[in-house]
Amino acid sequence: MISDVGFVISNLNSAGSNNIIMPKFEIENSKFDIEQIRPELTWRLRQRVMYPQSKLYEMEMEEDNDGIHFGAFEDNALVGVVSLFQQGKDFQFRKFAVDTGMQNKGIGNALLKYMEDFALNEGAERIWCNARVSAIGFYMKFGFFKTGKIFSKNGLDYEVMEKVIV
Ligand SMILES: CC(C)(COP(=O)(O)OP(=O)(O)OC[C@H]1O[C@@H](n2cnc3c(N)ncnc32)[C@H](O)[C@@H]1OP(=O)(O)O)[C@@H](O)C(=O)NCCC(=O)NCCS
Repeated sequence: MISDVGFVISNLNSAGSNNIIMPKFEIENSKFDIEQIRPELTWRLRQRVMYPQSKLYEMEMEEDNDGIHFGAFEDNALVGVVSLFQQGKDFQFRKFAVDTGMQNKGIGNALLKYMEDFALNEGAERIWCNARVSAIGFYMKFGFFKTGKIFSKNGLDYEVMEKVIV
């Protein structure tokens, strides 16, 4: 379970100004700090991990401003990102990326748990994603099911995966 530990003041912009106040949650037994972050902070990891052939400026999505974005930090370094989009009681997450050198250390799991608890707290009944086929095993370990809806986009194969969480 996550517990609300109040509010923190974050100055995540490079200029160090324009501080903003964000809610902060903590996961019991997690060695990674997970916080909500501004959309633009996800772009660099998105690019490096998911779209190394693309340019950084191509990482922005029109929908970014409608999403809730989470970052996992180790020693203040951003090592994982994921973006969550609400459609009623359905929550879709997108652009899940853990820094290449930091994979298989539990960061993805911690982010997924944090995000699921967050969504539950917001009244979610279902959480889903378009899973890269290469990541299906990761989601299955976390209780997601394959839906059989398969598609390809830009040379990659995907399957819609979901978890009903009521
Ligand atoms: C998929 C991804 C987010 C997982 O994050 P991670 O931090 O490496 O995952 P974790 O270390 O928390 O792994 C949790 C468990 O899933 C397993 N796992 C991780 N990636 C896996 C994969 N691609 N396939 C099958 N199992 C996987 C781990 O071995 C671990 O198993 P264990 O609990 O038995 O030890 C990360 O590997 C990544 O960013 N991949 C490249 C981008 C990508 O494919 N994103 C998903 C797009 S849908």
